[in-house]
Amino acid sequence: MPRPVRIRRRWFAWAALLVALAAPQGSSQDRRVVRVLAERFAFSPSQVKVKRGTVVEFKVRSDDTSHGFHIVGSNGSVIVPKRGRGEATLIFEADTAGTYTFECSKLCGAGHSFMRGSIIVEE
Ligand code: CUA
Repeated sequence: MPRPVRIRRRWFAWAALLVALAAPQGSSQDRRVVRVLAERFAFSPSQVKVKRGTVVEFKVRSDDTSHGFHIVGSNGSVIVPKRGRGEATLIFEADTAGTYTFECSKLCGAGHSFMRGSIIVEE
């Protein structure tokens, strides 16, 4: 049943947006910008640590070809444009402690499947 799933996903997206808009500067919900560089075949940094409750704004740019940036287990995925063509932004709400994997979601060459990293959400 694809329809209810899609609706629920849309709800999540709206909820994320509303939370983002409603959080004033200096509120209890911390925001953090994390800049990530993608290049064949790695992300740097490849490990990001944040405290639970942080809204992480990933700003990803490429140093070569176009890549993808996807957080496994979420529907968050963006295409990272080629070098010099800007950056892609992905918001991640670190609501639950644990380790999350991010990966390249666009075929970019022989080492595509090795392009991974982790987000560690600490209590
Ligand atoms: Cu980078 Cu696929």
